[in-house]
Amino acid sequence: MPIAATISKEIYKPHLEVKGGYSLSGELKVSGAKNSALVLMAASLLTEESMRINNVPLLTDIEGMAEILVTMGVKVKRSPSCIEIKAEGLHHAELPYELMAGLRASFFCIGPLLARLGKAKIPLPGGCRIGARPVGEHIKGLKALGAFVNVEHGSVIASIPGARKRLKSAHIVLDCPSVGATETILMAAVLAEGTSTIENAAQEPEVQDLAQMLNTMGANVQGAGGPKITIQGVEHLKGCEYTVIPDRIEAGTFLLAAAITRSCLRVAPLIPEHMSAVLQKLRDCGCILEKDGDGMKIIPGEIRGVDITTQPFPGFPTDLQAPFMALLTTAKGTSIVTEKIYENRMQHVTELQRMGASIRIQGSTAVIEGVPELSAAPVTGGDLRSAAAMVLASLAARGSSKVEGLNHLDRGYAEIENKLNQAGADILRRQQ
Ligand code: EPZ
Repeated sequence: MPIAATISKEIYKPHLEVKGGYSLSGELKVSGAKNSALVLMAASLLTEESMRINNVPLLTDIEGMAEILVTMGVKVKRSPSCIEIKAEGLHHAELPYELMAGLRASFFCIGPLLARLGKAKIPLPGGCRIGARPVGEHIKGLKALGAFVNVEHGSVIASIPGARKRLKSAHIVLDCPSVGATETILMAAVLAEGTSTIENAAQEPEVQDLAQMLNTMGANVQGAGGPKITIQGVEHLKGCEYTVIPDRIEAGTFLLAAAITRSCLRVAPLIPEHMSAVLQKLRDCGCILEKDGDGMKIIPGEIRGVDITTQPFPGFPTDLQAPFMALLTTAKGTSIVTEKIYENRMQHVTELQRMGASIRIQGSTAVIEGVPELSAAPVTGGDLRSAAAMVLASLAARGSSKVEGLNHLDRGYAEIENKLNQAGADILRRQQ
C-alpha cells in the first residue's frame, strides 16, 4: 500500500465531530448501570433456571459479556432493553483468553463457575490504562471459602478439592473495599455451606443491586451496602426477573454536561442516594439541584472551583473524576483533584491542555486554574471516562472538536451522541 494511503488510513479513525459552544435544553435519559448489569449477568450462572434482566444498557461491554456466556454453553437472548439468560446448559468452566482480554468484568464469572461447577479457569484480567487492576483480594476470598486456587500460565485456576461439592463458610476481611472482590466472594458464598461474612466490603450501589438480585433468587444476603455483609449459604438458587438500577456514572456525566454548557436540564432516571458525593460537589461549585420525579433538575450558576478526592463509595467516585475535571477547567478559581483509587487515571489532563485548559500535575494530583473558555481541538479519550470527559469539554469549547477513542466511549455510554443531540447538542459520529 502506498505510504500516503497508509498514513491516511492511520490518521482517520472513527470519531465524534462536536460543534461546541451551544447551550442544551430538555432532558437527558439515563440507561441501566453498566457496572451492575455486567455482574448480574455473571450471577445468572448461579442457577439453571431462566433469568430475565431488564434495563440492560446497549453497550459493547454487555455484548462482550453475552458472548462469553454463550461460549460456556449458556443460552442468551438479547432484546433492546432486556436480556434473558438460561445457564441450564453451562458446561464449560474455562474462558478463552481472546474473549477475556478486552473485558475485565468477565473475571466476575469465577465465583459462579466455582459455586456451580466446582471448578473454573479464567485468564488473569491483567492491567489496563488506568492501573494494574490486581485480583489478589478475589483469590484470597475464594481460598478462604475452601477453594484450591493457583495462577499459572496467565490464568487463575480454581477448584473445590476432594469429594466436596460445595464451598465452605468463611469470615473474610478485605485489605481494601474492592468492588469486584466483594462481588466475587458474594457470588461464591451464596451456595456455600454455612454462614460467611465479608468485612471491609465495598458499599457501592452495584454491590447492593447484586445482593438484591441474589436474594430475589432465594439467597440470604444481609448488610450489602454497608461495610459488613453476612451470607447464609443455600443449596439452590431459582431464576427470577430483575431490573437494573440507573447508571449513576452516566447520570453524573449528564449533570456535568449541563453544568459545563451552563444549561438547565433534567436528567432522569437517577437515584440521589447513589450519588450524594457528586451532587454535593455540583452544589459546592455553584449548581442548583432539584429532585424532579424520578430524576433531577440542574440549574448551573456561576461555576467556581472545588477540590475533589476520589474515594470508595460513599465518597466521590473515581469514575467521575475525569468528567468533573472537564467542568473545573472553566470554573472560576483553582481546583485540586486527587485520584486515590487508581495509579494512572490522569490521561485526560494532556488532552484537556490541548483545548486550552490550565492544569498542573503532581503524581495523581492535578491543580486546575479555571480559564474563561476552552478551544475546540482534535482530542482522544484514552480510556472510557477520559473519553467522556473529552465529549463534555468539546460541548463547551467554541468551534468544532474531533473526539477519538470511541472504542472506549461505547463501552460505557449507550448512544451518547443521540442522547445529547436530543437536548440540543450538535454531534456527528463519523466512521473515518
Ligand atoms: C469496579 O472495578 C468498576 N468496574 C470500575 O469501573 C470502578 O472504577 C471500580 O469498581 C471502583 O469503583 C466494574 O464494576 C466492571 P476495585 P473493580 O476492585 O471491581 C484495588 C468504569 O469506568 N484492588 O474496587 O475492578 C485496585 O487496584 C470502571 O466503569 C486490589 O488492590 O474495582 C484499585 O486500586 C473502571 N486488589 C482499587 O482496589 C484486588 O484484588 C479499586 O478496585 C482488587 C482491587
